[in-house]
Amino acid sequence: MQKVRVGVLGSGDVGKVLAAGFASLGHEVTIGSRDPGKLQEWASASARVSAGTFADAATFGDILVLATLGTGTLDAIRLAGVDAFDGKVVIDATNPLDFSKGMPPTLYVGTTDSLGEQVQRLIPKARVVKAFNTVGNAHMIHPQFPGGPPDMFLCGNDAEGKKIVSQICEAFGWGVADIGGIESSRYLEPMCMTWVLYGVLSSSWGHAFKLLRK
Ligand SMILES: NC(=O)c1ccc[n+]([C@@H]2O[C@H](COP(=O)([O-])OP(=O)(O)OC[C@H]3O[C@@H](n4cnc5c(N)ncnc54)[C@H](OP(=O)(O)O)[C@@H]3O)[C@@H](O)[C@H]2O)c1
Repeated sequence: MQKVRVGVLGSGDVGKVLAAGFASLGHEVTIGSRDPGKLQEWASASARVSAGTFADAATFGDILVLATLGTGTLDAIRLAGVDAFDGKVVIDATNPLDFSKGMPPTLYVGTTDSLGEQVQRLIPKARVVKAFNTVGNAHMIHPQFPGGPPDMFLCGNDAEGKKIVSQICEAFGWGVADIGGIESSRYLEPMCMTWVLYGVLSSSWGHAFKLLRK
């Protein structure tokens, strides 16, 4: 894949892991936060990573990543400016988790809608691809499992967008399983919960999904 500019919206573990992953492949990255100052020291460790606002990240990137708290995701997009997403491939790694009753969380949207669809509706000219939401951040880049590479389940309405995100997943060491249009986020977001619940019950976080095929 040719070198691109990547804008990552999100200063948490997912934002940092994916920003570092893109930089490790030679891409230029701007990682964004409402408070860019807290990212300066972390970003300064890589010549290919800069820190900025959500708007800086969204404007900079040819490919964008949403790595924001579920409940803050739509506000983060609005802060960035919805027009900045037009025509771009947007990797939506978010989950609509409700932590108000503690652990484990629940989903605050599902079955007849999803956060992925809400994101796509807010930025209708963007090519939103739901991906990276069904695995913990520790395994997002070059996952190592005895059973071989796990599969990244993804969905989105734009075939070319899904092709690009599939190439990114493969470059990060994943297989890919496409499950359809962005409305399939209704099933990928609950899939995150199966990953979380298995982790809570087993007190272990070294697992990932793989689709067995014949
Ligand atoms: N943690 C994982 O391993 C994992 C794995 C898969 C998917 N996910 C999903 O990926 C997303 C990021 O997870 P995370 O653990 O890295 O971090 P997180 O704590 O869920 O999110 C941190 C980011 O959300 C932003 N944010 C929080 N509230 C906001 C608001 N009201 N308005 C705008 N922005 C707001 C923060 O902005 P500031 O920078 O301004 O503080 C920060 O950039 C989540 O949706 C999560 O469910 C997480």
